[in-house]
Amino acid sequence: MRPTLDRRQFSQAALTATLGSAAAAHGLPVAADDRPAVLGGPPAWRGTWPAWPIADGGEEQALREVVQSGRWFRYAAGGPSTVDGFEQQWARQVGAAHCQATNSGTSSLIASLAALEIGPGDEVLIPPYTFVATVNAVLMHYALPVFVDTDPATAQWDLSLVEARIADATRAMAPVHLGGASCDMEALMTLARRRGLAVVEDACQAHTGEWRGRRLGTWGDIGCFSFQNGKHLTCGDGGAAVTSDAMLYGRVQAWHNQGIARSPDPQVAVRTGGNFRLTQFQGAILQQQLKRLEEHARQREQNAARLRELLSDVPGVAPKKILPGTTRHGCHLFVFDFDPAVFAGMAKSQFVRAVAAEGIPIAGGYAALHRQPWVERMLTNRGYQQIYGASRLRRWREENVLPANDRMLLTTCWFPQTTLLAEPSAMDRIAEALRRVQRHAAEIVRAA
Ligand SMILES: Cc1ncc(COP(=O)(O)O)c(C=O)c1O
Repeated sequence: MRPTLDRRQFSQAALTATLGSAAAAHGLPVAADDRPAVLGGPPAWRGTWPAWPIADGGEEQALREVVQSGRWFRYAAGGPSTVDGFEQQWARQVGAAHCQATNSGTSSLIASLAALEIGPGDEVLIPPYTFVATVNAVLMHYALPVFVDTDPATAQWDLSLVEARIADATRAMAPVHLGGASCDMEALMTLARRRGLAVVEDACQAHTGEWRGRRLGTWGDIGCFSFQNGKHLTCGDGGAAVTSDAMLYGRVQAWHNQGIARSPDPQVAVRTGGNFRLTQFQGAILQQQLKRLEEHARQREQNAARLRELLSDVPGVAPKKILPGTTRHGCHLFVFDFDPAVFAGMAKSQFVRAVAAEGIPIAGGYAALHRQPWVERMLTNRGYQQIYGASRLRRWREENVLPANDRMLLTTCWFPQTTLLAEPSAMDRIAEALRRVQRHAAEIVRAA
């Protein structure tokens, strides 16, 4: 256990006396004023945080080469394609036989569900603590998303509740590797195989995450990644589906390119398709970004471990539990809970405002996805009414109750991935900011 008091005394007294303006230049507190920033005190961190995305001359040169090549479209004739090259590298890196690049993580989810022939009348089990894209991909196929509650201790799916929600119409499960971690993927796959369900992993936030030494995204039938602007591997917008099943790969490939199959296998033919293609520019950027992925991942992992340890000394703050099978955390989000009882009954919005005022990037996490406006739009949609009928949709509404997720939403927050790319001492400032907000919680609540 580290000496908390020593650090606090050091930061408030010794630093003020000895480092003065040099400390301010490094974003450290210089005043003995312990008032929280939200009540007018000096913020715990005055420095900047790493900008994102990161690029250097490598990206510029790679883009220039694509411009000059005149080959901007991946299927244009001549020379090696940057997108082909990236697909091979990504497949190798995650340990899948095939990778199909797409123009977003959402489109990789849509194409993957299409490859599994998920369509009207089918039900897909999904967790509610996710970005709306997971739901949208199901809705795009006129399939029925069925939520199964969250395990608040981990913010991952509560697998103990999944089997009870499997119905005759259930065809697939789409676990979401929230923040870069996962639920028990062995247990999930055992259940899926026993009940004859397909698995599409939403690994959009889990580029380097692993469960028992195997990369997330490679446990299910297909795994989907996002290369959107905030992701660890980015080209502004982009995505990829990985699989070791040649037939599914062929179908994803066909779907992403207007239904045009490149494989002669008759099973590969898909009902239709769209244009979900990536350009040569994006392929070139991704190849450059890939060079930094591992180094950044290590840095985030080290900072996350440091922050986790520091937070063990902060009253009322608890990082989400990481399951023992997590051999590597993707560290896209540092997800944690604050305990309102230890923060004078503070509401989450107030907590987030107070921590943000200390100069710490913090988000209050996802809202209740199962109560967003899309729900009514789905239930009253003419197509959904025709496909599922009034009684199934009425039951869907009745069963759309997620008490654990609702409870979790009151206390769960996260720090974004760029926070974990800062210098290690910034983690101390995060802990100090949280400690200060906790010390002054009653005043903050009273002032609101
Ligand atoms: C969990 C999850 N699923 C799906 C997506 C969709 O990815 P994209 O934004 O690339 O379409 C995202 C990205 O924000 C995500 O975080």
